[in-house]
Amino acid sequence: MKKEAIIEDPYLEYIDLANIGGDQAAAPPLPQPAQPKPGEFKLIGKYTPRVDGRKIVTGEALYTHDLVFEGMLIAKILRSPHASADVVSVDLGPALSYPGVKAALKLKDGRVKWAGEPIAAVAAVDERTAEESLKLIKVEYKVLPHVVSVDKAMAQGAPLVQNEGNVAKSNEYTRGDAEKGFKEADVIFEQTYKTSWEVHQPTETHGSLAKWDGDNLTVWDSTQAIQSVRDGLARSLAMPASRIKVIKHYMGGGFGSKLGVNDHTIIAARMAKETGRPVKILLTRQENSDCVGYRPTAWMTVRAGAKKDGTLTALTLKNYNCGGIGRGDRCSEPFTDVYKCANVKVEEYAVFVNTCGSRATRAPGHTQATFGLEGFMEELAARLSLDPLELRLKNYSTKDKGDTGTPYSTKGLEQCYKLGAEKIGWSRRNKKPGAGNGTVRTGLGMASQIWPGAGVPGTLADVKLYNDGSVEVDCGTQDIGTGTRTHIAIVAAETLGLEPRDISVHIGNSDLPWAPISGGSLTVPSVAPAVRDAALKAAEYLKGLAAKKLNVAPAEIVLEDKKAVSKTDPGKSIDLKELARTIPRPMPFHGERANMTPGFAYQTFGAHFAEVEVDTETGKIKVKKVVAAHDIGRVLNRQTAESQVIGAITQGMSAALFEEKIMDPETGTMLNPNLHDYKVATAMDIPEIVPIFADVIDDRLNNLGTKGLGEPPRIPASAVIANAVFNAIGVHVREIPMTPARVLAALKRKEAGK
Ligand code: MOS
Repeated sequence: MKKEAIIEDPYLEYIDLANIGGDQAAAPPLPQPAQPKPGEFKLIGKYTPRVDGRKIVTGEALYTHDLVFEGMLIAKILRSPHASADVVSVDLGPALSYPGVKAALKLKDGRVKWAGEPIAAVAAVDERTAEESLKLIKVEYKVLPHVVSVDKAMAQGAPLVQNEGNVAKSNEYTRGDAEKGFKEADVIFEQTYKTSWEVHQPTETHGSLAKWDGDNLTVWDSTQAIQSVRDGLARSLAMPASRIKVIKHYMGGGFGSKLGVNDHTIIAARMAKETGRPVKILLTRQENSDCVGYRPTAWMTVRAGAKKDGTLTALTLKNYNCGGIGRGDRCSEPFTDVYKCANVKVEEYAVFVNTCGSRATRAPGHTQATFGLEGFMEELAARLSLDPLELRLKNYSTKDKGDTGTPYSTKGLEQCYKLGAEKIGWSRRNKKPGAGNGTVRTGLGMASQIWPGAGVPGTLADVKLYNDGSVEVDCGTQDIGTGTRTHIAIVAAETLGLEPRDISVHIGNSDLPWAPISGGSLTVPSVAPAVRDAALKAAEYLKGLAAKKLNVAPAEIVLEDKKAVSKTDPGKSIDLKELARTIPRPMPFHGERANMTPGFAYQTFGAHFAEVEVDTETGKIKVKKVVAAHDIGRVLNRQTAESQVIGAITQGMSAALFEEKIMDPETGTMLNPNLHDYKVATAMDIPEIVPIFADVIDDRLNNLGTKGLGEPPRIPASAVIANAVFNAIGVHVREIPMTPARVLAALKRKEAGK
């Protein structure tokens, strides 16, 4: 290992954005309106169906894939079939002279480092012509040796993926003195846990459509980040950001793979410029599987010292992350933050192989780390003959950095433990793992979760009142699929005494007031408080108008049931529609998401409990039930919140049992780049899922006390199943996906007493 400097990877930078609450803690808070008392809300916290649910299920909602423009060209990318090669020459000539081809671009010179790297692109009158003409591009490669497996990349004499070597330090953290902590321990325990390459597999593959109007560019993109795509395009095309508009109406998921500007988006923009025609480019399922990232693997060796009563005296992690040619994730935070422990040491390394770079994947780092940390805690509990829940409570922290740092503003993890354990019937678990009888064994497991999800101060939203009484909300956010339009409509309607369907929600256009990426569980806790702020200002204005009309003080007025009503004399009221007639012009009210109160740490928390059945003859696992208890502050809409949890558990179970990107060592290509060979859980696999919310309102966080939920329920969702399997069969599989072969191998290991 030559390189000691800690490496960075810009595509993963957003993880730091997720920590923005911590960075902002020093800034003075903006004034925030007081939060309503319990029971004061009519819509917030209740079940509200999606305002656009009908549109989505009937196919009326527009996805990037649906868009067709007059004269539109279709572009396709020629990709390297080799995992490592030098591009000697690229001849576009024969493709360019193919009838129907309007443009061709050379994209690569020099070293190719993964199979799938873009080499050239064509734009043609239709998809078929584009595909056919790609075959005519002549590329001469000098093929070089490659490596696509983590073990082989780390071995002596492996082909070098990066010049400095195939292993580089990516993260380190120390507090206290781990060696001293181990000396104080009654028990020292060490285990290694592994996670696989997990592909995002959004329902809608990546896609972009670019159209120029003179010097102005409009791009429709299947993205989680319209604002970042605009800024990225401006940089890539060396043009003013002010001349670029990025639009995304609806999308079929992203899970972290769609957080920035993509090669194919830049290609579409360049070819649209060259041809003077709109250019659309959609990635195939194969390209989506092997060219636009995945969750990096983790290979975590966890070591802890503990007293007999379970008190942790030392905790260390040595982790090898593999994110292809990229840095991979950092997995330290759950290790450094979840449990009270004074002596902690983390060392992480990136291992480079010849596959495309990994990308943020639903709770990057935390998800892998939680499989390692929580698997370890379950095994440690068994080693100490303690109830796994007691072990966790024994090491409960109320401050960050394992109880050595800043106090958490709120932490509802204890409530999550209590509510979840009750609901699953925790006392039913095998007191000793594997204690049951028969071929089919049942077990219960648990896992804890931490994740920032506090939202981004500075997020903007406008509420506009029209003089016919209609209301519009403008916000440059996007709906990744979680129901953002509904969340915005609920907050505005609640504040103005209207119904969600009365609010026209304008989002998905980068010209609208700034909002952050829909990633990092940031959307609700960033956007909802900004909308609330704007709506409160609009409400004040309406109350002022009503007060004059009704001849009472503005403080007297409440807005409810589409009326302005006097609190003391309910006989005095006026319809909001009628009141609005006095508005001289459309009135905009600007809202901003304020800073958090300084001096506190803001995180989301949760605990999952699972019940599984394991067939010890076949090695098959059946997940029976998952109870998911979460502290996300105030729940905005219970209906969409529950659906986040159900989706995340399905995805986590899928990763625990099935999902794995498999690379062919011979060719350096992906063997399962489709949804037939890459197995994703379907309806048949999904267990009973019980979402529970702890409803711990955080008054210091924002004007709604609400945190994010996009990622939290994904974090413990694989770990909890592995832990339930451990409780069922008495041996921890320690590697996901827990295929039948791996389960049977673990049972053999147990028989052999290893
Ligand atoms: Mo992200 S990994 O898009 O929340």
